[in-house]
Amino acid sequence: MEEQDYEATLRPRWLREYLGQEKVKENLGILITASKARGEPLDHVLLYGPPGLGKTTLATVIANEMGVDFRITSGPAITIPGDLASTLTGLKAGDVLFIDEVHRLNRLVEEALYPAMEDFAWDMVLGKGPGARTVRLHLQHFTVIGATTRYALLSAPLRDRFGATFRLDYYSQAAMEQIVARSARILGVPIEPEAVTEIARCARGTPRVANRLLRRVRDYAEVRADGRVALQVAQDALGMLEIDALGLDEIDRRVLHVIAEKYDGGPVGLETLAAAVGEEADTIMDVYEPYLLQLGFLQRTPRGRTLTPAGYRHLGLPPKPQAGPQLSLL
Ligand SMILES: Nc1ncnc2c1ncn2[C@@H]1O[C@H](COP(=O)(O)OP(=O)(O)O)[C@@H](O)[C@H]1O
Ligand SMILES: [Mg+2]
Repeated sequence: MEEQDYEATLRPRWLREYLGQEKVKENLGILITASKARGEPLDHVLLYGPPGLGKTTLATVIANEMGVDFRITSGPAITIPGDLASTLTGLKAGDVLFIDEVHRLNRLVEEALYPAMEDFAWDMVLGKGPGARTVRLHLQHFTVIGATTRYALLSAPLRDRFGATFRLDYYSQAAMEQIVARSARILGVPIEPEAVTEIARCARGTPRVANRLLRRVRDYAEVRADGRVALQVAQDALGMLEIDALGLDEIDRRVLHVIAEKYDGGPVGLETLAAAVGEEADTIMDVYEPYLLQLGFLQRTPRGRTLTPAGYRHLGLPPKPQAGPQLSLL
């Protein structure tokens, strides 16, 4: 099974199947119930948070719960405003237009989207030069659901056009265990509760990672054991993937090591760090950093990234003596 099919099989379709994120679900539930009771389309919704936490999933869940059609596009896919025109005019009242990576809309497209989101109007320019004129098209009252990993990159006017904004956080251990158990059930993988706990613990609070690890562990169990995922089988499989007790993989550790050893604990700038690690700066920033920050291993300072004493401890290295301001206070 391809990775995408695999994800689609495991993707929750309804709010009750969407595990964890209790606060977000509660607020969304109220929003959905209230708009349905009024017979009105849903407000525009913005979802943000690190990759793999369930933004796309939640957008499809919202459309299902509202009983409307779901159209999907993404910031970089729309190069000129005209790309959007036929999509928008094709939407029925209440339909959801999901815009993934909404922070990557270009300026012209973004500005064309403002009246569409606010007044359900689309200004189309006909002709060129002095003879050009603008025709205002009327759109149905549709709903935009935007998703982004970079809330800070969204312009203020765009942010303001979303009636509701939800931040997805890394999942709790309990929620991760439910997610692993659910996925194993759907895939028909026989798994011990202790192995569920172990996979959940190593999945860095991220459902996509949990599903990926489960898949690797299942492969391992089929090839090296009798297909059953016992605790030992899960531990061996995760060990082979070089995933440590906190769920950090080889690249996470390389990030920490580079800062500790090459840059003496930092501060080191993102681009420099990315080059030394051998990854894209965007990947470091979106995928690796947020979890290392969450664990308290890294800090972002105006001059770059620094390793914390906890980060040194995780590597088994003595923390760098703090060049403290204590002396100057004396
Ligand atoms: N709350 C959840 N409960 C169960 N599974 C989830 C949940 N959120 C995400 N998943 C799983 O994780 C995968 C990745 O989620 P996705 O919505 O694609 O993340 P994002 O869009 O934030 O990168 C999905 O295919 C789904 O199977
Ligand atoms: Mg997504």
